[in-house]
Amino acid sequence: MTRLRFNTAGWLMMAAVLFISVGTLRAQPTPLTNDAGLQLVIDRCGACHGLTLKDRCLTGDCATGRVHAVTPRPWDLVVPWMRALGCTMTDAEQASITGYLMTHYAAHYPVRWEAAGSVAGGWNVVALAPFRGRLFAGIEGNGSVVRLADGPGWTPVLTTPNYTVYGLVPFRDQLYAATNDPAAEIWSSSDGEHWRLKGRLAGEKGIISLGVFKNRLYAGTARAAIYQSTDGINWSPAGRLLPDAGPAYPNWVRFLVPFAGALYAGIEHGGLYRSDDGATWRPDWPADAQPGARGAALFRGALYVGATAGGEIWQRRAGANARWARVFSAQGDHPSGYVASLAVLGDFLYAGVSGRVYRTRDGLQWEEVGHLGPYTIEAMAPFGDRLYAGTALPPNARIYRMSETAPPQGGGDGQ
Ligand code: HEC
Repeated sequence: MTRLRFNTAGWLMMAAVLFISVGTLRAQPTPLTNDAGLQLVIDRCGACHGLTLKDRCLTGDCATGRVHAVTPRPWDLVVPWMRALGCTMTDAEQASITGYLMTHYAAHYPVRWEAAGSVAGGWNVVALAPFRGRLFAGIEGNGSVVRLADGPGWTPVLTTPNYTVYGLVPFRDQLYAATNDPAAEIWSSSDGEHWRLKGRLAGEKGIISLGVFKNRLYAGTARAAIYQSTDGINWSPAGRLLPDAGPAYPNWVRFLVPFAGALYAGIEHGGLYRSDDGATWRPDWPADAQPGARGAALFRGALYVGATAGGEIWQRRAGANARWARVFSAQGDHPSGYVASLAVLGDFLYAGVSGRVYRTRDGLQWEEVGHLGPYTIEAMAPFGDRLYAGTALPPNARIYRMSETAPPQGGGDGQ
């Protein structure tokens, strides 16, 4: 991320400008100090919602639900959000607002997050996968695949005529990608640069997930149908998870993950299914879990599945008698927790719970290690010694990366 600098002369200028403009404040906030950065926060942030500081209304309308407490947060990530949402500020003002908030309310995580570029024309990042020493991302909004560039940013390598690219799974020396809306297409590439349309599933509107099981490639569609192929070209049906679901397309198969000799398929608004032969399916989801399976990962010999409600993460070990156990719940804290992504880097399992990132070393104890924004973190993947996470920073798809190096403490002044 480009770290913005703000020098003493800048601060004095800003203070002078603000001194003059203080009389134009919209809300009835209580200024807490004369700090120029704080004054800017008061001036700008109240245009859309209230901010409270130590239970005092700092700015805006604090009586409504649209109020955010000024608490330790990665404000260097939150402020770009607010600007993207229409909060007027110049680069210097952004540096001043961020500098103030980071100095007084920085979140101290044991890891360091930085922006790793955005994808113009894309709305979100819904797949991330390394292939042949490169990192690739599937984009929602412009139906493209992009590759992490040698320089800053991402290079488009495939643009499909569809809305979203999901999948990104290596199979038989090729990287596979699948599309959603309006067509269920399968693309592949042997080098990540040159792509070929391999097949299209007739009667389907979109493929939401790809997975490899017993040396076959599987595709899960937007209406809970499963298909399989040995060459990516010829596809045959491999079961319907919801045979009575009808012709609509709201039943997205969010993942196809092999575990302990079975293939697991999770449905966005439904439950979790397993197949031992890749053709017949049966439900395998704890009765006390809310419906809605989303992120999935294997970690230390167990399968982890994230739910779309309550921020729940469930764990299942191998073995016929193994049972599902709820190992994480964001209820209370963040009741709308949506666990869109799970990924492993080093000794840890990471979970994207709505816009926050949590991690665990043993599968049971979790700690919050990041807060990338209010949108869900749709995809995460390790690449090199870093974890990449995809989300949205309107109007673009945005990717952040994390390294396990703690940021220097105390110096969080935005410099
Ligand atoms: C143009 C309107 C607008 C302005 C101005 C604005 N915000 Fe927001 N803010 C939003 C919206 C929309 C959201 C997302 C919905 C929500 O959580 O209410 C949001 C969410 C937030 C959140 C929660 C984000 C998260 O990561 O969970 C924080 C914190 C926040 N705003 C702080 C600020 C601060 C600080 C400022 C001043 C720099 C500011 N906002 C100015 C519109 C605005």
